[in-house]
Amino acid sequence: MCGIVGYVGLHEEDAVPFLLEGLKKLEYRGYDSAGLSICKEGQLINRRAVGKLRALEANVSDNPLSSHIGIAHTRWATHGKPNERNCHPITSETIAVVHNGIIENFADLKDNLKQQGYVFYSDTDTEVITAILSKSLEQGHDIESAFSELRKSIQGHYSLAFIYSHEPDTIYVTRQGCPLCLGKAEGGVMIASDAMALELRARNVCYLEDGDYAVITKDNIRICDNANNCVTRHYHAISHLHKPSDKGNYRHYMLKEIHEQPEIVNQVLGKYIYQPDKKINLPELSFNPKDISHIVLCGCGTAYYAALIAKYWLEKYAKITVSVEVGSELRYTDMPFKKDMVGVFISQSGETLDTLSAMRKFKENGVKTLTIVNVPQSTIMREADTVLEIYAGQEIGVASTKAMMCQLVTLALFAIQMGVLRDIITPSYSEQLIDELYLVPRLINKALQNEGDIANFAKKMSKKDNIIFVGRHIAYPLALEGALKLKEISYIHAEGYIAGELKHGPLALLDEETPVVAIAPQSIAYEKTMSNISEAVSRGCELIFLSDTDVKDEFTNNVIFSIKMPKRRQMSLYICLFYN
Ligand code: M6R
Repeated sequence: MCGIVGYVGLHEEDAVPFLLEGLKKLEYRGYDSAGLSICKEGQLINRRAVGKLRALEANVSDNPLSSHIGIAHTRWATHGKPNERNCHPITSETIAVVHNGIIENFADLKDNLKQQGYVFYSDTDTEVITAILSKSLEQGHDIESAFSELRKSIQGHYSLAFIYSHEPDTIYVTRQGCPLCLGKAEGGVMIASDAMALELRARNVCYLEDGDYAVITKDNIRICDNANNCVTRHYHAISHLHKPSDKGNYRHYMLKEIHEQPEIVNQVLGKYIYQPDKKINLPELSFNPKDISHIVLCGCGTAYYAALIAKYWLEKYAKITVSVEVGSELRYTDMPFKKDMVGVFISQSGETLDTLSAMRKFKENGVKTLTIVNVPQSTIMREADTVLEIYAGQEIGVASTKAMMCQLVTLALFAIQMGVLRDIITPSYSEQLIDELYLVPRLINKALQNEGDIANFAKKMSKKDNIIFVGRHIAYPLALEGALKLKEISYIHAEGYIAGELKHGPLALLDEETPVVAIAPQSIAYEKTMSNISEAVSRGCELIFLSDTDVKDEFTNNVIFSIKMPKRRQMSLYICLFYN
């Protein structure tokens, strides 16, 4: 995911350090190149480097530069390879642009501009922004008219910022679908695509709304909406989530975040459970649970898998029809929207565009929305009718761990409370389930005691090319999540399958070289899962066995690693399962 930062202020020496510091804060989002532009004596100066941020930092330290204004970017290649030519800022002689998101009509715009003689130097969609602005200036328009022309021409979802060498005290920004925020620092104004980049220097942050644009100098911030009306957008205190965090003694943030889970789960439970009588105390819902007949759960990636798990809980404890949708696909469905539906949107960042767009589709159709979200003041949090925060704290690791855990705990509480409010389960049964949830931190701690063995085993597995995860029933989403994490972190090809689906095609992939991770807790699906595991065993697969039962005799020769899960309990088992 790309990142934008910018600064305009009083002092020459301020912009470049802020830009580099801001980019560093956004590194956690992933990127493959970085760059910055400043304006000095009426000229743009640009620096770009492929690879890690330290390449750009080295470039700047070998050949220092300073200015009171600048913009910078970390890029994840989408249009055009990750090379220097495509690295942002994308510039013309007088304009430098940084951009997140995608300009969907860029091909048509590019053809048109080429016909008018504009020469393109990069393969990016972003360059049409530079081109439209430059062309409009050449035609004699002033920069504000050129900016207005730009906003009318481009379609898609984006946030962008640019500087113009003839107006070296101003940053221009706009957003449509991707986040952009502002913060006031001593002596200047900062912009960023993520408030985390502002945390060291600003106390408050102001989020632009979709369609807003802003013209920013060190002394003045003019924000206008889509219809060109000047508007006031409020400043919010930068939450603790945006405050600096270090990785302590851990080797990396993901490890730290995995180890934070027991404490954080306790905190989430503490936020939502009123201890004296073990009652769940959620924020006021914008709908009456008794009037609801259908819940649509929606998220992307890990959040989608959390939704798949929650479906079982909502159906079981609240007896409600649940469907689960991937955010990026929901907008293409012809789902019939009904008044007795609720859409539940799950997102750690609260900024995932596909989830946000899906949520907006529900709102446009008059359906109530609820979000299970982590980052305070994120767009999804601001726009949902009901907000259930997951209180996971800052998640810096790209691979979601503690956030998924907190999503599950919050979803579990939501399911139980829906059951109580719909008179499906009794308060005393709800108390029993809450007791189960209170076991989770201890069980995670216990699971973490296996860390050394797991790490040793992981070294052996790191030589493998393919690994298959299987599970049935509620263990199926866990198989999907296991495979996703493995791909994301180790770059080993992995797939998660419903164990019962192996025989419908995927068995062709199984052989002695392809280990199978079998997630097989005692459940209604246990015996069936065992038969499916036999299918893998008969193809000579090595097995990694996760269960609360002993490995069956007939599998022992194939099992190369096993993890004993805690005995089956109502719900906590499934929260801990993957992390065991
Ligand atoms: O911020 P979100 O929860 O909306 O992000 C959705 C996915 O991109 C995210 O869950 C992703 O799949 C995980 N980081 C993978 O570990």
